[in-house]
Amino acid sequence: MIRFPNNFLFGTATSSHQIEGNNKYNDWWEWENRGKLNVRSGKACNYWELYRDDIKIMAELGYNAYRFSIEWSRIFPEKDRIDYNALYRYKEIINLLQKHGIEPMVTLHHFTNPQWFVKEGGWVREENIKYFIKYVELVADELRGIKLWVTINEPIIYVLQGYIYGTWPPGIRSLKIADRVIMNLMKAHNEAYNILHEYASVGIAKNMIAFKPGSDRKKDLNAHKKIDEAFNWGFIDGILSGELKTLRRTYRVETGGMDFVGINYYSSYIVKYSWNPFKLNIDVKPLDTGLWTTMGYCIYPKGLYEVVKKTYERYRKEIFITENGVAVEDDELRILSIIRHLQYLHKAISEGVIVKGYFYWSFMDNFEWDKGFEQRFGLIEVDYNTFERRPRRSAYVYSEIASTRTISDKLIEKYGLKYLE
Ligand code: FCB
Repeated sequence: MIRFPNNFLFGTATSSHQIEGNNKYNDWWEWENRGKLNVRSGKACNYWELYRDDIKIMAELGYNAYRFSIEWSRIFPEKDRIDYNALYRYKEIINLLQKHGIEPMVTLHHFTNPQWFVKEGGWVREENIKYFIKYVELVADELRGIKLWVTINEPIIYVLQGYIYGTWPPGIRSLKIADRVIMNLMKAHNEAYNILHEYASVGIAKNMIAFKPGSDRKKDLNAHKKIDEAFNWGFIDGILSGELKTLRRTYRVETGGMDFVGINYYSSYIVKYSWNPFKLNIDVKPLDTGLWTTMGYCIYPKGLYEVVKKTYERYRKEIFITENGVAVEDDELRILSIIRHLQYLHKAISEGVIVKGYFYWSFMDNFEWDKGFEQRFGLIEVDYNTFERRPRRSAYVYSEIASTRTISDKLIEKYGLKYLE
């Protein structure tokens, strides 16, 4: 049996655009309806109407935390118009969670932006940071009871997809613009941090990949180092030490603050040198552990231990696992994944790393961006025709773990690892 510390949070995570439905005022909605993708979020999980039921399910299952995002474009559908009804809806959600003893962790930016903001040049222009800050000031003031804030979700993924590959809005492909956006996001984080941290604990949710060099040849080791620095550490280093490394170069930037590091961990990749300059001379491919998810990468629980240890050694800050999960057809694989990741997380904790909580991605099946509704990440199955919610077996297993703060020998024997290397 393994036991997690007192007050450890066992939660689940979601984001506004992926579950709420009808987020008509954001850039993703526009992108979907421009016919850029063959998927549309539409009513998504219809959470905007069904949130009460969902929170009830969470409470019944004994999950004691919930990470979700506020949709900036709902609060500011237009540049100078605040939708107070939307704001009150979020307030009600927070009140309901707190009433049930579920700790809310609120994300301010989870990939989506108001359409009017993008028309003004979005994150490419430094002058536009003020619009984000106006929104932060408003919600900081209106939602005072929040103790855990995430300013920005996965800044590097956002920049890679939106400004380097151009596969997500705004569809730009430029390393130079990407760097500018990274710096503007850092400044936005720093300013938001100053507003929020007096009353709350504030961090970012950073996607981390357990990269491994493809061999010990010098070229492979260098390629590995380069991508590891730029992808995993650059953004946080920039905020905490003023040295920002991107794929292009190193910058000196103004430092800021962070109370915790949120880690979104999904998988591991092998890195090799590539002769191809269009790939920036880096070749990455998923580590093959034999346990494939429908997203095209493998389940590698030890990687969570690796990134958690490195993060703690590097920054000595409290850690939350702000996302970890799998999209799979077979729910048994989800149970296996949760248990093995938690085993490795527990190992890190027992070696002195301060981890305050774990949020499974996701509470329910939802709109997985350009991949649409096919990917099933949920503990709760969603029927997209009727919007019915059906807890999977994994939801009950996670419920047992959350409500006892332990993983029983029986579960470890059936799904877990006997030895943790
Ligand atoms: C993360 C995102 C989240 C979700 C999961 C699967 O990169 O933060 O919105 O799509 O991946």
